[in-house]
Amino acid sequence: MKYIPASDRYGEMIYNRCGRSGLMIPAISLGLWHNFGHTDRPETYRAILHAAFDAGITHFDLANNYGPPSGSAEENFGRILKQDFTSYRDEMIISTKAGYLMWPGPYGDFGSRKYLLSSLDQSLKRMGLDYVDIFYHHRPDPDTPLEETMMALDQAVRSGKSLYAGISNYTANQAKAAARILNDLGTPCLIHQPKYSMLVREPEEDLLDSLEKEGIGCIAFSPLAQGLLTDKYLDGITEGSRANKPHGFLQKQAITPDILEMTGRLNSLAADRGQSLAQMALAWLLKDTRLTSVLIGVSSVKQLSDNLGTLHNIKFNKEELNQIEQILNRS
Ligand SMILES: NC(=O)c1ccc[n+]([C@@H]2O[C@H](COP(=O)([O-])OP(=O)(O)OC[C@H]3O[C@@H](n4cnc5c(N)ncnc54)[C@H](OP(=O)(O)O)[C@@H]3O)[C@@H](O)[C@H]2O)c1
Repeated sequence: MKYIPASDRYGEMIYNRCGRSGLMIPAISLGLWHNFGHTDRPETYRAILHAAFDAGITHFDLANNYGPPSGSAEENFGRILKQDFTSYRDEMIISTKAGYLMWPGPYGDFGSRKYLLSSLDQSLKRMGLDYVDIFYHHRPDPDTPLEETMMALDQAVRSGKSLYAGISNYTANQAKAAARILNDLGTPCLIHQPKYSMLVREPEEDLLDSLEKEGIGCIAFSPLAQGLLTDKYLDGITEGSRANKPHGFLQKQAITPDILEMTGRLNSLAADRGQSLAQMALAWLLKDTRLTSVLIGVSSVKQLSDNLGTLHNIKFNKEELNQIEQILNRS
């Protein structure tokens, strides 16, 4: 069936400026790490992409290795782009990354110019695109000079294969050093993608402040801690959930009685606020103006709709914030 996007798709979404750039990014962005590989159902992920775009989600985040198998999320996304979104490419922000193992031998991992630029070419081919909007270095490389990696990002932008450059999983100091090099090259760092949620708080130490100072946007990945910060594990591990999949990155061992006790209490607090736990966990991140977007994953349209409901209430009073810190054993 032909897909016709909702005509009111820009009505509800909040768009935030990404650092000191001209680019606006939706407060909720969609990641294709899980649920879009060859092991997943095309009808489901196609419906998710339609529902996301219909709700004003303009930003879709990929990486060379998303699947499984690696590369298949880009291939599947590319197929649906061609089928349904060709006329809407200019309304979309598509990102990809390179930095983790992608192909065998010495040139398919980490941060060399050789790896990054050939990987970007492969990603463009898989997605059937002339350019991506953001090309990220996926993780720091302890052995390649940072200058070389940043020059590769700069080259990706200068060649027109990416419009902007980004970094992911960099510490505050690494991000500062990368930003300095990119600025000198004339290609400012647009965005940083760290892991950040109620359960993973490291970015608060110095990363968020330093990104704000440098004028770099911040998009939090795994904002729901891969599903732990939702109601899905409160009654056990259900069939088809990430913790139950052989290729899922959420380990069963991570679902401890302590975590369940914590998430159970958070779930009650969310209910008092008239929200689901997922909505409260996303709102809790979005209350911080240093954050540009939360980068969610979903395995169904239902989960996506639940998460979009976050936008109705992203405010917290002091007492709620204190209660959350108490539940998380942080005060
Ligand atoms: N830069 C990096 O190194 C890096 C690393 C990881 C991720 N990322 C990016 O971040 C994106 C999101 O990561 P993530 O998938 O870990 O994010 P997440 O939003 O923390 O977790 C997504 C999972 O949570 C569950 N879920 C989501 N909404 C739900 C709801 N309303 N109710 C119940 N369960 C719900 C689903 O689990 P089930 O599938 O079990 O239903 C879903 O697959 C990735 O796709 C990728 O783009 C980047």
